[in-house]
Amino acid sequence: MCGIIGVTGGSGVTELLLDGLARLEYRGYDSAGLVLQAEGTLWRARDATKPSPLEGLRKVAEDAPVATAGIGHTRWATHGHPNEGNAHPHLDCTGRVAIIHNGIIENWRELRARLLESGHVLASDTDSEAIAHLVEEELATGVDLTAAVRAVVGELRGAFALGVVSADEPETIVAARRVSPLLVGLGDSEAREGLLASDIPAILGRTRTVWALEDDEIAVLRPGSVEITSLAGDPVEHPAIEVGWDLEAAERGDYDDFMSKEMAEQPQAVTATLVGRLLPEGILALDEMHRLTDGDLQAVDKVFIVACGSSYHAGLMAKYAIERWLHLPAEIDIASEFRYRDPVLDGRTLVVGVSQSGETVDTTEAMRHARSEGAKVLVISNVVDSSMAREADGVLYTRAGPEIGVAATKTHLAQIAALEVLALYLAQLRGALPGPAIAGLLDHLRGVPDLIGEALARDEAVAGVAARFVDTRDFFYLGRHVGFPVALEGALKLKEIAYVRAEAYPAGELKHGPIALIEPGTVVLAVATRNRLWDKLKSNIQEVRSRGATVVVVAQDGDGDSAAEASSPEHVLWVPPTEELFSPLVDVVPLQQFAYHLARAHGYDVDRPRNLAKTVTVE
Ligand code: AGP
Repeated sequence: MCGIIGVTGGSGVTELLLDGLARLEYRGYDSAGLVLQAEGTLWRARDATKPSPLEGLRKVAEDAPVATAGIGHTRWATHGHPNEGNAHPHLDCTGRVAIIHNGIIENWRELRARLLESGHVLASDTDSEAIAHLVEEELATGVDLTAAVRAVVGELRGAFALGVVSADEPETIVAARRVSPLLVGLGDSEAREGLLASDIPAILGRTRTVWALEDDEIAVLRPGSVEITSLAGDPVEHPAIEVGWDLEAAERGDYDDFMSKEMAEQPQAVTATLVGRLLPEGILALDEMHRLTDGDLQAVDKVFIVACGSSYHAGLMAKYAIERWLHLPAEIDIASEFRYRDPVLDGRTLVVGVSQSGETVDTTEAMRHARSEGAKVLVISNVVDSSMAREADGVLYTRAGPEIGVAATKTHLAQIAALEVLALYLAQLRGALPGPAIAGLLDHLRGVPDLIGEALARDEAVAGVAARFVDTRDFFYLGRHVGFPVALEGALKLKEIAYVRAEAYPAGELKHGPIALIEPGTVVLAVATRNRLWDKLKSNIQEVRSRGATVVVVAQDGDGDSAAEASSPEHVLWVPPTEELFSPLVDVVPLQQFAYHLARAHGYDVDRPRNLAKTVTVE
């Protein structure tokens, strides 16, 4: 989720790096840094000053030497706090090799341990720094930088886009990627600078022609030349991409808005949240344990989940998992209510705060209240070092990357995944589930990102269903069991971006009042994917159909019985089937798309809906 830039050649390397970093601002700024090649050495500057590390970096760079090449980085912290010591570029032990990295190195623990054992000094807490030291080891065997990077790429597991420079190979940048995107190009000016970037905006001011590296390819950039080879060393040629967009469009890539981009990123957001946590030897959930021990977690006798909005819905989904897998009482509460009632808390209560931003005042204050009552506080946040993360006893980070659209999409899915990992981790720690049962669930969970991708690919079909309801002003969303929080989240999306009234109910509750509102033409959207209450949900759908409601259902592929509950075959939102407790991760996708298409049909700005803010810092 970080931004990467590299420049070799020309007379304005430092300025190009700083301008490029400024254009990557939408990827988030925990810190910014650069390394310049100058007079046979590497010159490094980094800054993590809030709110704008880039401003700090600009000041330091006023004293920079004249550079022939350089690499720069904006960080969105995943491993290690957002401070200067963890900022990129990272150096090897000699200070003559520097690297920038975007992605997550899955085997970083093993690599670090091995490097430390062989005497390397690692200066940061990041997964990335190991790469610089691995390159150092390869260079010590006498190979050149390209061969060294090639060998290191073979050792890495996970996702990466890399830029590497050495003081001993002037005007050369070696780049490589796997999963994380990386572009190379040549400047349009006479200098023909070699350019490297994670995203087009970073280099859009210098060129409109770029090449995208594929997995496990290595690129060597020099002024006037870009050479791409496979991992085996064979030359590779890619068609050039001609960029016809303006800067803002380039930030969104091929997407019309950030919301659709962020929905499309959901499989990666969930994968990144799972990476490195589901290990063969067991689950590793928590990133930080400030004041929390395994003993505390084993002693817990009650769990409270506290959050707002979409984060609350993610928490509600997790309640079912905690009760099922841990056999522990699990309560869920809206943060703004929790803090003003008298929840019964003590040292054996685990309070889990869920917040994308980690700054929501209602949730922050609820966490403070829980701590003051002696409860153990664990926070799930997408922002490393957010206020909530700093104050918590323990932290588990979602790694969805910055979310710009106000409506939570990829962070919501990452939260559900993180909560499921937490529940399984606690089950493992407390011996609440047998090992083979945990292993089976983990196998399912690993497959979920692909299923999310499959659900996303059906966007056009969802748009077709949504087109039937452009003028509908009232919706009922129904679900049972884990389908209920999915219904809640679908209704929230519709309210916040399409400005349409939508009420979500556990379907069994309808007959206790709300069914009085059902009349011919009322639109009901039912999450009819298979769970243990599916039969009962079917009866509830019958109750509304018999009163004339138009029914749309979310049904699993091949489930003709559920589809038959819809008003017509054109009223079905199909999703791939998955394990009951993981199904919200997939089932919520068509509901996000449904809301999105209704909002777009009215021409609304889905990224900045009226009256809403991305981070709610007032009560
Ligand atoms: C979701 O689409 C909303 N924008 C909103 O409900 C959000 O989930 C809520 O404000 C909580 O924010 P947080 O996760 O940053 O604490």
